[in-house]
Amino acid sequence: MRNAKTTSATHRIFGPSRDQASTLRRMASEDRSGETSRERSTGTRIIAVTSGKGGVGKTNVVANLAASLAELGKKVVVLDADFGLANIDVLLGLTPRFHLGHVLFGNKSLTEVMIQGPNGIRIIPASSGLQRLAELTSEQRDFLVESFADLHSDTDYLLIDTAAGISRNVIHFLLSAQEVIVVSAPEPTAIVDGYAIIKIILKEDPAKPVQVIINSVQREEEAREVFGQINSVVRRFLGRDINYLGHIERDPHVTQAVRGQVLVACQFPDAPASRCFRQLARSISQQAGVARMADNMVWEKLLNDWIN
Ligand SMILES: Nc1ncnc2c1ncn2[C@@H]1O[C@H](COP(=O)(O)OP(=O)(O)OP(=O)(O)O)[C@@H](O)[C@H]1O
Ligand SMILES: [Mg+2]
Repeated sequence: MRNAKTTSATHRIFGPSRDQASTLRRMASEDRSGETSRERSTGTRIIAVTSGKGGVGKTNVVANLAASLAELGKKVVVLDADFGLANIDVLLGLTPRFHLGHVLFGNKSLTEVMIQGPNGIRIIPASSGLQRLAELTSEQRDFLVESFADLHSDTDYLLIDTAAGISRNVIHFLLSAQEVIVVSAPEPTAIVDGYAIIKIILKEDPAKPVQVIINSVQREEEAREVFGQINSVVRRFLGRDINYLGHIERDPHVTQAVRGQVLVACQFPDAPASRCFRQLARSISQQAGVARMADNMVWEKLLNDWIN
């Protein structure tokens, strides 16, 4: 027999009650009354950033895009889901005391483990804890869902930095996010690997919104050409189009910023790469986004996908 606790846990994982949902919806719409209808958000946009090949600039894209979206007044949370190396905090010269594992297994709240980055972005440091989600008891799952749901009214974008490649774990994150950004570079290997990851995502979820950023190009035309190559293969073999989001110039300021553990977008706002990041942030914020789920159901679905 299902006891009350189990039923409430199931409810929280699979969806809020209608009352909860309408209250949260009202709060969200009051919150954003100052925005234009095009930009009005009905919740958090959850975007996973990935690449087929390693080292093409994902972590830099996530961090600088987050800072540039924050400059536009957006509330951004970055989830570092690259368990191999905790990239984002190294990139920013931050030394987090806690990570998501402490929320899962160490009685910390999500707020306690989040660290502040530049422009007010909040970062959830990486943890191999996420790989142990399946081990959680229903009480722990409940707690986690509630922790994430608390972010909902206060977060316009959750950007997920993933590891490169096609491990099951990465694919899991890509499929659970509402949208995917694939970062590629102009080198043939990056293009081939970029297509490979897009193919895997679209085979598993043919309707998933996929956008591409071409990093480290000399000119925008180069990026459009590379994108055209990827898109024509996607169209030919997968029968649909993907979206070109934009380009980032190859810029020594990026390397300089990485060495100084600062963000190029913050330290060198007039650098060519920083201008590209601002343009990308504008493009993203002007998109209507995918039909977003209401309220904390977003988080519940996300966590449910991670757990199963
Ligand atoms: N637009 C750019 N111009 C110049 N250098 C760049 C640019 N983008 C990235 N880089 C360089 O590439 C390096 C790798 O970038 P980054 O760590 O963001 O890649 P990644 O895809 O996250 O790597 P990994 O797959 O290991 O997680 C950076 O340290 C930086 O020096
Ligand atoms: Mg990285």
